[in-house]
Amino acid sequence: MRLDIVSIFPEYFAPLDVSLIGKARERGTLDVRVHQLRDWTHDVHKTVDDTPYGGGPGMVMKPEVWGEAIDAVIGDGAPRMIVPTPSGRPFTQELAQELAGEPWLLFACGRYEGIDSRVMAEYGARLRVDEVSIGDYVLAGGEVAVLVMVEAIGRLLPGVLGNAQSAVDDSFAPGSMRNLVEGPVYTKPPVWRGHEVPAVLLSGHHGKVARWRRDEALRRTMRNRPELVAALDPETLDKHDRRLLEELSFRVGPEDMAN
Ligand code: ADE
Repeated sequence: MRLDIVSIFPEYFAPLDVSLIGKARERGTLDVRVHQLRDWTHDVHKTVDDTPYGGGPGMVMKPEVWGEAIDAVIGDGAPRMIVPTPSGRPFTQELAQELAGEPWLLFACGRYEGIDSRVMAEYGARLRVDEVSIGDYVLAGGEVAVLVMVEAIGRLLPGVLGNAQSAVDDSFAPGSMRNLVEGPVYTKPPVWRGHEVPAVLLSGHHGKVARWRRDEALRRTMRNRPELVAALDPETLDKHDRRLLEELSFRVGPEDMAN
């Protein structure tokens, strides 16, 4: 997969040299190219922003410099373009999976109040352009959001994770534990500072371990993400799940819809 990233802070992307993503780049699974937006300015100050039309605080990134940068980076090609912004569609595991299937992504990192909207209109006519938010909070710029997205997408590429099952088991990944967060995990030693590993995990009984993991996933989802429990499809819950959720004082099923 080829990834182009345009930013006024290329230094932000140093972490892409290390760990899983760094190794994927060394192997050639990922071809990451980071570009300095200011290389496409023509004034001595290398200006990339100006005051917003209509007034208001902050600065807006100029369309001309973005146009020249994107034209130069894409040539005759047609990558899928991602613009990180708090006003974008939510970045989810589902979107990460979809983007992991693309051969070429271009990330355009805005700073300040954002990029002049005509840039998205211009390239939206030629490329698939998505404005994407990584969460309901405001960062100082899109760089960290792009790091988040690249890591989430990169680890889904074939051969990037050591254990292919790891991505399948993820919270939010499609599968039997879909829409539940994962429960707690343990490793050796069996007792640490008086805290014991739950006995079932040492039992070697795969069925009981699977049941315990699901119970713990339900408990933790209930505690940390009650809105996910409320959205569960009752069809995906067995009797044991229902009993557990009732114990945790949550009733599920069609009778709730009526009230
Ligand atoms: N830029 C600033 N805040 C952002 C967010 N929450 N998601 C994506 N890009 C952003």
